[in-house]
Amino acid sequence: MTRLLVRDLEQLATPSDAPAPVRGRALRDVELIEGAFVLAREGVIEAVGSMHDLPSLPGDVEEIDGRGLSAIPGLVDCHTHPAFAGDRVHEFALRAAGATYEELLAAGGGILSTMRATRAVGADGLTEIVARHRDAMLAHGTTTFEGKSGYGLDRETELTQLQAVRAAGGVPTWLGAHAVPPEHRDADAYLDWAIEHVLPDAARIAVAADVFVERGTFDVEQARRYLGACRKAGLALRIHGDQLSEIGAVPLAVELQARSIDHLEATGRGGVAQLAASDVAAVLLPVAALYLGRPMPPARALVDAGGAIALATDFNPGSAFCSSLPVVCTLACTQLRLTPEEALAACTVNAAYVLGLGDRGRLAAGKRADVVLLDTPDWRHLAYHLAGDVVHTVVRDGRIAYSRA
Ligand code: NIG
Ligand code: FE
Repeated sequence: MTRLLVRDLEQLATPSDAPAPVRGRALRDVELIEGAFVLAREGVIEAVGSMHDLPSLPGDVEEIDGRGLSAIPGLVDCHTHPAFAGDRVHEFALRAAGATYEELLAAGGGILSTMRATRAVGADGLTEIVARHRDAMLAHGTTTFEGKSGYGLDRETELTQLQAVRAAGGVPTWLGAHAVPPEHRDADAYLDWAIEHVLPDAARIAVAADVFVERGTFDVEQARRYLGACRKAGLALRIHGDQLSEIGAVPLAVELQARSIDHLEATGRGGVAQLAASDVAAVLLPVAALYLGRPMPPARALVDAGGAIALATDFNPGSAFCSSLPVVCTLACTQLRLTPEEALAACTVNAAYVLGLGDRGRLAAGKRADVVLLDTPDWRHLAYHLAGDVVHTVVRDGRIAYSRA
């Protein structure tokens, strides 16, 4: 059967083989090979190395000329909300004129306005929408994406969202506790209903559950109850926490040994210390902070204290309408004070860890053959070129899935 060989690469960069999640100082350990090749067979990397060590290859080999290019692992976007209909450009303009994200949500807009559009679109529409966003992510180098529900908030639409993410090849997360839909009296009544009527089927499709812990949405007590039920149903636990205010999401994540806590724009010193000493991954979403004009999350402090971080886009129509992990890497290096090496590990091997996927995120024999070829001899242009068109070719599962030419 045919092999795929990427040859004569100017440079290959991959996070080293420290156990995932990579933490603290080890996040800087990126292996570099100048004059490199990657060889794949049946969707799996067979060998990575210097051109001097390229073995002779009998049989059919499809070759990609890597001259002028550099290679990094396929990017992993571990936090997105791609299953939505409509847009929120009207609210974007209102916010530009001074309205706040919280005011819009409290007035029945925000997440709830996307909920109304998403409920109306139907299964075929949602499937098509998620596939379209998947392809846009792919063109930015994303070979694995997570996708959350949370814009249905009724049984049928939540399950349809999860199925649409699965159908597009994504990793579904049930964000059953994103907002309280208007047909329920309050957050407690909604959670009782969702746990009884949606969770059993959601747990058959999703791999994780997520909750938006925030003033005006779900408090810590409600989140504990929801996540406890989700864990019993076999789901990994994730939390949207400390986005706008610090109301106890970090202690809850540590108590429940959640897989990740995501956002952290409002996290103070105590939260940083607690998180860095735990096994909970901190997923940083600098586009959301930029988009809402919020402080950036304390990435440098988390890494310096020995924490495990990941980076993601948070792609959604309200707080982060951006599907580019290269843009996230630029923000990581300019706003979060991370190095390009730390940013690379955070959106490859550590993001894969957040999704429970140990088979990807590094360029090494035995890993899934997901490779991004950058149109530059130095891979750090990934972050250096702000919104630049740096992605030349994307190999996913051993096949060319995107080519700019
Ligand atoms: O991660 N904060 C909660 N959820 C999303 C935004 C969803 C929306 O505004 O539609 C976020 O920022
Ligand atoms: Fe989010």
